[in-house]
Amino acid sequence: MARIIGGIGTSHVPAAGAAIDHGKQADPYWAPYFAKIEPVRDWVRDAEPDVCIVVYNDHASAFSLEVIPTFAIGVAAEFPPADEGYGPRQVPNVTGHPELAWHLAESLILDEFDMTIVNEMPVDHGLTVPLSVMYDQPDEWPCRVVPLCVNVIQYPAPLGRRCYRLGQAIRRAVDAFPGDERVLILGTGGMSHQLQGERAGLVNVDFDLAFLDRLVSDPSAQAEVGHTEYLREAGSEGIELVMWLVMRGALDDQVREVHRAHHVPTSNTSNGAIVLENAARRTDVR
Ligand code: DHB
Ligand code: FE
Repeated sequence: MARIIGGIGTSHVPAAGAAIDHGKQADPYWAPYFAKIEPVRDWVRDAEPDVCIVVYNDHASAFSLEVIPTFAIGVAAEFPPADEGYGPRQVPNVTGHPELAWHLAESLILDEFDMTIVNEMPVDHGLTVPLSVMYDQPDEWPCRVVPLCVNVIQYPAPLGRRCYRLGQAIRRAVDAFPGDERVLILGTGGMSHQLQGERAGLVNVDFDLAFLDRLVSDPSAQAEVGHTEYLREAGSEGIELVMWLVMRGALDDQVREVHRAHHVPTSNTSNGAIVLENAARRTDVR
């Protein structure tokens, strides 16, 4: 049976992707951030996931404001990097996992999560930057990917509670998949940030660190936090953090925090990363 070997939460700051693409990881501005995520890269190298379910939001790249699915799943064999205005990132195409993706779609929809099925889509920084955070600059991405999009761009986004329950449904689906894949799940976006308006540049480190604490030890309480609190405390784009709850819902109730990184500033965003394993089972290294 396929199994979830762990979960990673990470910001998906586009400037961090550009720093990787343009050889700036050792620059004084970026070096402290990349030093902090080195243990994340070490863990991923040892854990060797076969497939990553990447929970992210599309930033009006694949979906325009004409069509806004609340939850969407990519079932294609391949996903090209999106052109977000500066040409596509020079990173490898993302290889999908159609068998797992269709299994997830069927299981989630029959479990009452009405996923939009996407046969063709480019993937933007919300998905490709987390891959670069984990894998740096490989010639090919070392794992296959199931993209799972959550709308956090246009109000109303789904509640944290709904996202947490979606994660629990993903767990049931993966546990029932008749393969031997080692599955890693990622929740991306956040942490506190606001990109426009009077409070542009907002960062709330206290909120972010409390979020990480509760994500680890009391996720069902964090899942009850409503939109207004995210907006007030973490800024308009802080709502991206609900996607970390999808990741957390797919793990056991008890988890082991393997590594936590937090760094300010990167671009406009309070930048966090966390690696979690199910507490009952030390992830065996191949
Ligand atoms: C930034 C962060 C994001 O999550 C995003 O989608 C776009 C920009 C930033 O910090 O610049
Ligand atoms: Fe974003």
